[in-house]
Amino acid sequence: MRRKLAAGNWKMNGTNASLAEVQILTRNHPAPSVDLLICPPATLIVQAAALTADSPLEIGAQDCHAAAAGAHTGDISAVMLAEAGARAVILGHSERRQDHDESSALVSAKTQAAWASGLTAVVCLGETLAQREAAQTLDIIADQLDASLPDGATGTNTVIAYEPIWAIGTGLTPSTAQIAEVHDFLRRRLADRFGEDRADTIRLLYGGSVKPSNAMEIFATSNVDGALVGGASLKAADFSPIVKALEDCAATP
Ligand code: PGA
Repeated sequence: MRRKLAAGNWKMNGTNASLAEVQILTRNHPAPSVDLLICPPATLIVQAAALTADSPLEIGAQDCHAAAAGAHTGDISAVMLAEAGARAVILGHSERRQDHDESSALVSAKTQAAWASGLTAVVCLGETLAQREAAQTLDIIADQLDASLPDGATGTNTVIAYEPIWAIGTGLTPSTAQIAEVHDFLRRRLADRFGEDRADTIRLLYGGSVKPSNAMEIFATSNVDGALVGGASLKAADFSPIVKALEDCAATP
């Protein structure tokens, strides 16, 4: 069975004061029945990792460079993130694909770099509203999945996050039927490429406007193994009920 995962993506939000939220989460969830990951901005990773050292809550990053070191002003390598205390890294988020022109080939190279440093890659995929309206969603998802994932993907080193771009930060969410369609498709496509046994270990997260009020319904959807949460991960008061909903769902056979 895949262990469920609640992951928070703080994006470019959070200063030292926000570390209090991490502390509250460790107190709220001393022994969670699901995996917990918070990805703060890179500046907070060392402190957040220290604060959570004795807790099951893990700390991740939001991007890395594909190279281990070199002349890349402003970039951070996976080696550095691992040393800072990160256990995972979000790669290919739509905001990076759009704002920084990241291709799936680059995401694949970054994924290799993450693995080489022992980080779990949380690889993000998602269609635009125009692509959905043109009935291209599954084609886009297939292309992104194939090109963003290197051959060595396993349930230990990789998590996939389906995040429709039009649902991110908008308050809009797909219907559970639309989420199920994509997640079932992803599971089949992983099975075609890696075989069913390996595909069955890779967790598929949904992301895009997940909040306490819609979490339960989304978590009950076919092939949804958890969520990648943006805005509602910034405050423990919002994220904890989402974690609780995932725990409740994990407890329901
Ligand atoms: P949101 O962001 O929950 O604020 O919509 C999700 C994400 O971009 O990972």
